[in-house]
Amino acid sequence: MSRTRTDASASAVAADTPAPAVRVRGVTKTFGRGAAAVPALRGVDMDVQPGELVMLVGPSGCGKTTLLSIISGVLDADGGAAELYGVEWASLTTDQKTRRRRDLVGFVFQQFNLVPTLTVAQNVAVPLMLSGVSFAPAVRRATEVLGTVGLGARASAMPAELSGGMQQRVAIARALVGKPRLLVCDEPTANLDARTGQSVMELIHAASREKAESGHERCVVVVTHDARIFRYADRVEEMEDGMVKDHPSNLVMEEARMMPHYGEPHSERLADQVGH
Ligand SMILES: Nc1ncnc2c1ncn2[C@@H]1O[C@H](COP(=O)(O)OP(=O)(O)OP(=O)(O)O)[C@@H](O)[C@H]1O
Ligand SMILES: [Mg+2]
Repeated sequence: MSRTRTDASASAVAADTPAPAVRVRGVTKTFGRGAAAVPALRGVDMDVQPGELVMLVGPSGCGKTTLLSIISGVLDADGGAAELYGVEWASLTTDQKTRRRRDLVGFVFQQFNLVPTLTVAQNVAVPLMLSGVSFAPAVRRATEVLGTVGLGARASAMPAELSGGMQQRVAIARALVGKPRLLVCDEPTANLDARTGQSVMELIHAASREKAESGHERCVVVVTHDARIFRYADRVEEMEDGMVKDHPSNLVMEEARMMPHYGEPHSERLADQVGH
């Protein structure tokens, strides 16, 4: 049966194609001026879909952290456009950016950045308190989230009493306590041994499959040098010299292809990308 496409069916088609969670077009960023100018990003295009876990790889200095900072509204791009869930960061005031980051974005770094004088639960509760939740309910909710990263019993410990892997799990709990729609992780396993790194990636992978506070799908972007964790990605994007390559190199794909043999999970979407 043939059908003439009406306006209604055309918009139904558009509604079927989800808007990207992260949309980056032609983004440029230069640090410094004149003779000291360092071009960090030289026209980056990248999309991340809701529900997706994307890994960003590439040599030191190629612009990975800079791109992550622009995606998450920490840093302003010089040119191009960076949108998070349909809102361009450049269209917001500084206060609006701060609020949007607080409401929508969770951060995990290589350094765990825990406050040494606060207990583990208090550390995790900080983002909630910054959002206006009062102390007792914030610590209660933080303790629940610590349970989901296997640290419910350590809620009243001080950070220095925990191992590096445990501290990173606390940092993940802190990043997830506000149920963000975007989780960005900058080399989250760099300071951890292989097994601990794997358990941290399992948590980050699980977070990519959970819904955010708003009931929307979440997306996750992980910067890494660590090929051992590629198997947790839905897609691997490779950067070089301030650009995201159109296609990751054979070397990166070979590493992604090899890694599944070391265990699960290995996403079906990555299997499509590497040609399994
Ligand atoms: N605040 C800054 N001031 C000046 N230059 C900077 C600044 N931040 C980054 N750069 C420069 O911009 C380029 C990209 O840096 P970026 O930190 O994004 O790289 P990266 O890919 O994250 O590297 P790494 O793997 O070492 O973390 C580098 O040449 C770096 O020296
Ligand atoms: Mg970096």
